[in-house]
Amino acid sequence: MESLHAHPSADGVWQGLRLAEGLAVPDVALPEGALASVVVRQGQVRWVGPDAALPAAFAALPRWQAGGLLATPGLVDCHTHLVYGGQRAHEFALRLAGASYEEVARAGGGIVSSVRATRAASEDELFALAAPRLQALLDEGVCAIEIKSGYGLALEHERKQLRVARRLGEAFGVTVRTTFLGAHALPPEYAGRDQDYTDLVCHEMLPALAAEGLVDAVDVFCERIAFTLAQTEQVFQAARRLGLPVKLHAEQLSDMGGSALAARYGALSCDHIEHLSQEGIAAMQRAGTVAVLLPGAYYTLRDTQLPPIPALRAAGVPMAVSTDHNPGTSPALSLLLMANMACTLFRLTVPEALAGITTHAARALGLQATHGLIAAGRPANLVLWPVAEAAELAYWLGQKPACTIVRQGRVVRDALGVHG
Ligand code: NIG
Ligand code: FE
Repeated sequence: MESLHAHPSADGVWQGLRLAEGLAVPDVALPEGALASVVVRQGQVRWVGPDAALPAAFAALPRWQAGGLLATPGLVDCHTHLVYGGQRAHEFALRLAGASYEEVARAGGGIVSSVRATRAASEDELFALAAPRLQALLDEGVCAIEIKSGYGLALEHERKQLRVARRLGEAFGVTVRTTFLGAHALPPEYAGRDQDYTDLVCHEMLPALAAEGLVDAVDVFCERIAFTLAQTEQVFQAARRLGLPVKLHAEQLSDMGGSALAARYGALSCDHIEHLSQEGIAAMQRAGTVAVLLPGAYYTLRDTQLPPIPALRAAGVPMAVSTDHNPGTSPALSLLLMANMACTLFRLTVPEALAGITTHAARALGLQATHGLIAAGRPANLVLWPVAEAAELAYWLGQKPACTIVRQGRVVRDALGVHG
């Protein structure tokens, strides 16, 4: 396992960088085609500008020559269910044989089968299972990640998932935002008592876990096979009482009106949104809510209902792209592959896809002041890529490029030998 402190400090002047367009804020304007320097000191970006304009105050720092490599901010994966027991290849086979996601769920498979495996696993076992998944994402430059609960569906098991999420952040030295998703599915012991379970989520589970400092945001799966609009609002009210931001699994299988509701609660994001209406788009636009696109789930479920990208674009709703890593609908461990699929399946442009896995993904986590952009005053999270043009990041299918990664001010990977 990776430990941040085992890696060298990134402090110094990183020279000869090509800054990815729109993903960096220079302190001194960059002439067309000029190579840039990024100054890192005490783990923070201190200055960004043309190589030739480096302020004298930084002249004595060590220098690392990037020779024209493309620099992006550290990637942000803003929607994952990374911590769970077991796997669901069996359902994959069932769906290939014609069963729908809803049919599998109604037959006792789906989320509830991951709940059984997650409840049966210890905290250490869950950590050991999630660690290589996290490592795969980090190796591609992820520097901040959201991890949801939602496979415990009982206080002790939701706690276990969230504690593992926190431990992963500490052990790997990566920014982890935890999201409580107690309202993900109805646990089997509450069959036929969905209102009782919603009450438990709102009055016991969420307040207890929030008091333990385990919850950064609150999410609900608002859907025919999950929670109603009224129950979703009840959870949002509980979150509001605790001062926690909300987000929503919204309009994935049908238009429930969840996005408009979430926007009324100032949601950070509405995620999936294949069936999002024009009214939902307008509400998100007014609230500044991010649209999180999850092409891995769309692809795995062989969905045909496209999220309304042109209308989101026209309304100026920021669009993020994420893995939605989970064992049921998106067993994906490459954010770059998701960028590719967002372009190919959803027709995002390359700049949109790259903003979607950086700047807009950071906003979907409330991290827009610190992550998703190369700029002075932020923690040093950046990735150097051996590509001729930024489009290559979305173009290759499953390439896992060699790259050099600075995360939280440390050189955690230097496959390109820039720091060497
Ligand atoms: O984001 N849509 C609901 N939740 C997950 C799937 C969870 C599962 O099937 O285990 C999602 O797609
Ligand atoms: Fe999800």
